Amino acid sequence: MSRYPSLLANLVATPRHWLVTGAAGFIGSHLVENLLRLGQTVRGLDNFATGRRENLIGLQAALTLEEWARFTFIEGDLRNPEDCHQACHGAERILHQGALGSVPRSIDNPHASHESNVTGTLNLLAAARDAGIRRFVYASSSSVYGDDPNLPKVEHRTGRVLSPYAATKMMIELYAGVFNRCYGLEPIGLRYFNVFGARQDPEGAYAAVIPKWVAAMLRGDPVVINGDGETSRDFCYIANVVQANLLAATTENPEATDQAYNIAVHHRTTLNELFAKLKALVEARTPGLEVAPPVYKDFRAGDVRHSLADISKARDLLGYEPTHQIDEGLAEAIDWYCENVTAS
Ligand SMILES: NC(=O)c1ccc[n+]([C@@H]2O[C@H](COP(=O)([O-])OP(=O)(O)OC[C@H]3O[C@@H](n4cnc5c(N)ncnc54)[C@H](O)[C@@H]3O)[C@@H](O)[C@H]2O)c1
Repeated sequence: MSRYPSLLANLVATPRHWLVTGAAGFIGSHLVENLLRLGQTVRGLDNFATGRRENLIGLQAALTLEEWARFTFIEGDLRNPEDCHQACHGAERILHQGALGSVPRSIDNPHASHESNVTGTLNLLAAARDAGIRRFVYASSSSVYGDDPNLPKVEHRTGRVLSPYAATKMMIELYAGVFNRCYGLEPIGLRYFNVFGARQDPEGAYAAVIPKWVAAMLRGDPVVINGDGETSRDFCYIANVVQANLLAATTENPEATDQAYNIAVHHRTTLNELFAKLKALVEARTPGLEVAPPVYKDFRAGDVRHSLADISKARDLLGYEPTHQIDEGLAEAIDWYCENVTAS
């Protein structure tokens, strides 16, 4: 773990101007924070659809005045081409995280997911092209593997996508490739697998599993597990995702661009195992609390059964090496979860 800060510092030794979309969200805010700590100049774009003003206020409090002074923020919308042009002006590298996440949200409202994720990305690609920005790193998702039954997931073999959300991520990968072939952009897609860490939205119907479960445990409610609990995921701590973005944004390997990469740790954890890990951490941190046994309900529409990433492509072409396994990530993040989820 100790090699993590120097690893990042080596990657962005040259000062640059960055655009981070989704800057008020979970992953975007970590990218902004790390870039500012590394002496970079950063512009953030977000419309607060799911991002939180508290994330930016928290960043300001955690950074020095000098670091914060290198940050500018545009409250704007990816669906608006003008906002995308304004955001791209003068930027040299783009880390595009802005999107409506969540499979269930997209099943409830496919148009909203399409507009922010697909139209929004197309607007940003066009704005990047017009501003002469070549390197365009963007968030894709493990959901593109759909019903492909093979494990581990390898980048070249995808199945039929199972949700509108997955379809949006598949489409932006197609558009990114087209912008490479038609306009010479250097897109790099990162297929994240269940990212977790501080500032992950703990509230609402579409909250991710870890903050949702920690909240239930602290309230004394039973955790609801969709299915039999043997569904598995390759949970990836946020530090690994930050590393992957900086590697993708700075690689000089010509073979590394116009590609999509799995970003995970290549370790599968079942929901039952995750429950046991969180129960132990929450009980250790909260004297007197005894976490109730989980309640099992129906499988959720659109969810894939198992997810495990082959990360050798990112290793080979980008030099990606996860610094945090799930236990190290949970140990770092548990205090934040416990302090921030109780009201939900
Ligand atoms: N968290 C994960 O496990 C995970 C897994 C796979 C892929 N991803 C992808 O990673 C990216 C970041 O996800 P996150 O977990 O940080 O989610 P998040 O919801 O915390 O962040 C997304 C941000 O995008 C902003 N946004 C949404 N629509 C916008 C629009 N039209 N214009 C401007 N801003 C807009 C939101 O307000 C939010 O701040 C997304 O593209 C998501 O699809 C995340």
